[in-house]
Parts: sequence; C-alpha cells; structure tokens
Amino acid sequence: MSNIIGKIKKIGVIGTGTMGNGIAQVFAGIGYDVLMIDIKQEFLDRARTSIDRSLQMMVKKEKITTDDARAVTNRLSMSVNLKDARDCDFVVEAVSENHEIKLDVHKRLGEILRPEVVIGTNTSSISITMLAKASGRPERFIGMHFMNPVPVMKLVEVIRGMDTSDETYRITRELTEKLEKVPVEVNDSPGFVSNRVLLPMLNEAISCIHEGIAGPVEVDNVMKFGMAHPMGPIQLADFIGLDICLAIMNVLYDGFKDSKYRPCPLLVKMVEAGHLGDKTGKGFYTWEKHKVTGVHYNG
Ligand SMILES: NC(=O)c1ccc[n+]([C@@H]2O[C@H](COP(=O)([O-])OP(=O)(O)OC[C@H]3O[C@@H](n4cnc5c(N)ncnc54)[C@H](O)[C@@H]3O)[C@@H](O)[C@H]2O)c1
Repeated sequence: MSNIIGKIKKIGVIGTGTMGNGIAQVFAGIGYDVLMIDIKQEFLDRARTSIDRSLQMMVKKEKITTDDARAVTNRLSMSVNLKDARDCDFVVEAVSENHEIKLDVHKRLGEILRPEVVIGTNTSSISITMLAKASGRPERFIGMHFMNPVPVMKLVEVIRGMDTSDETYRITRELTEKLEKVPVEVNDSPGFVSNRVLLPMLNEAISCIHEGIAGPVEVDNVMKFGMAHPMGPIQLADFIGLDICLAIMNVLYDGFKDSKYRPCPLLVKMVEAGHLGDKTGKGFYTWEKHKVTGVHYNG
C-alpha cells in the first residue's frame, strides 16, 4: 500500500471555494504539489488570497516559519481547465453542492484521469454511490468529507460507496493520516454520520425556539454549560448557514421518508425571509465579521 501512496505526487483539487482552498492548503502543507481548478481565474485568485491569509496567521502564531509558508505557496498551481487534471495522481472534488454540476464534473474526470487514479468527493449530502457511477470508475471512487475550517478540524469522514474497493479505502485512509487528520470509515447513507447526528439536533434546538420554550441564548447556554459544547446549536446553525441546514434536513427527510427528520417550520421561515445567519449578517443572531453581535430573533 505504501508503494501506491509513494507514487502519489500531485493532488488535484477541483473547486476552490471555502472547502477547496483549505484542502489545497493542507495537502501542499505536507509536501504535495497541488493543482487547484475552478471555473474562473477570479475564484482561483480569491482562493490563493485566502490560503495566504491562513498561512500568515500560522506564521504569526509561530506554527510555521515564513520559509515554510513560501514553500507551501510554491507548491500550488492553478487552472481553469479541468483537462489539466490529467496528470494528477489523486483528486479531491469540492465543487458547489449541486447534483448537475457534480455529475458533470465526475463524468469528465472519469474520462480525463488515468484509470487507477482515485477520486474523493467532499460532498456533504449527495449520494457517493451515484457520483461514483457517473465517474465510470466506482471502485476508485470514495467520499472524503472534510470539515470546515479544513486546516483546523481533525475529522475526515471516509465514505464508502456501494462499489468502493478496499484498496481505494486504504489509500484514502492513509492519505488522510498523512494529513494528520482522523479518518472515520462510514458507509454511504443520507447525511453520512456527521450530518445525520448533528442536523436533527440543530433542528430540535430551533423547535425549542419555535414552540416558545426558550430563546436562542438560553438554548445555547444549556448546551454550552450543560453539555460542554464549545458553541451552542443555534449559533452553530447560524454559522453553518440556515439555508444549508434546511437543505441537509431535506436530504434526510427525502432519503429516509421518516417524519423525525421534518425541518422545523421556523427554520423554513427564516430561510424564506433570507435570514441565513453569519453569511447575511442576520439569522437567530446578528453577525459582524463572523462574530455574534446580538440577538435578532428571540421567538
Ligand atoms: N462549507 C462547508 O462548511 C462544507 C463542509 C463540508 C463539506 N462541504 C462540501 O464541500 C463542497 C464545496 O463546498 P464549499 O462550501 O467550499 O462551496 P463554495 O461555494 O465555497 O465553493 C465551490 C467552488 O466550486 C466552484 N465550481 C463550481 N462549478 C465548478 C466546476 N464545474 N468546476 C470547477 N469548480 C467549480 C465554484 O466556482 C466555487 O469556487 C460541497 O460539496 C459542500 O457540500 C462544505
């Protein structure tokens, strides 16, 4: 196995938004050449700025030296042409969470990459098995679900599609360990484990507000000071984005056809109003520069 891992020199990262730029940074951080691909040069430039900022922060905290930061930057290359991924030895896809876009990217990657190259998708909610089929190499396809922010969070859910081979799983697990992250093996199922456990809790917390049981601060304080959660569920829902929370609840609801996954009507209403949390400056809380400044919706 280490032999196969040893042959991996160049990583392709497709989609360089919030997750993709973090994924590119961590692979370049352990010495891989990384090709970042997006649809527009301005998106690649934005990703590069974001990586530079993150590296500067690490230098400031004396986690790495300026020479280390420069070396990481020098290992990054960029392209707006998916075909340039042809010489990559392992690919992580982190394009927008949209069925059509993902199916198209995986179909094309399946044609472009050498047959033995493994594709990992960072999707949070789309079936790994379905994307694997689109790639035409289901045995060489796997879920590689990083958490946000990628350079900080240790977990990578490694999700086996129906036809993922043992070798593909082992390659992905070994690479994850090289990144000094913790791979957790799970099987393909709506929401995997992370979102299946987390989102119903956030949804239930919102139901407490909806039913007038408590306000956002009170719900969060119960979970912070009673259950040792570093961030309360309402603040976390705002931080993730209420639109994303709703989309994932709908994936669980549609996937299992079980009423226990029904999105709370207040969550739906907040999304309809455009109060999405941190990203719009208003959700259950008011936000400025990614920090809570007050309560917006108290029930
Ligand atoms: N944001 C999170 O907290 C989070 C956490 C875990 C997993 N994810 C998953 O990671 C993936 C990316 O999410 P994100 O938050 O980084 O999204 P994002 O919107 O920040 O970035 C997506 C990027 O993909 C690019 N893109 C779109 N179509 C493309 C194409 N055809 N080819 C190349 N690039 C293309 C976009 O231009 C954009 O830069 C999604 O599948 C999401 O579900 C997100």
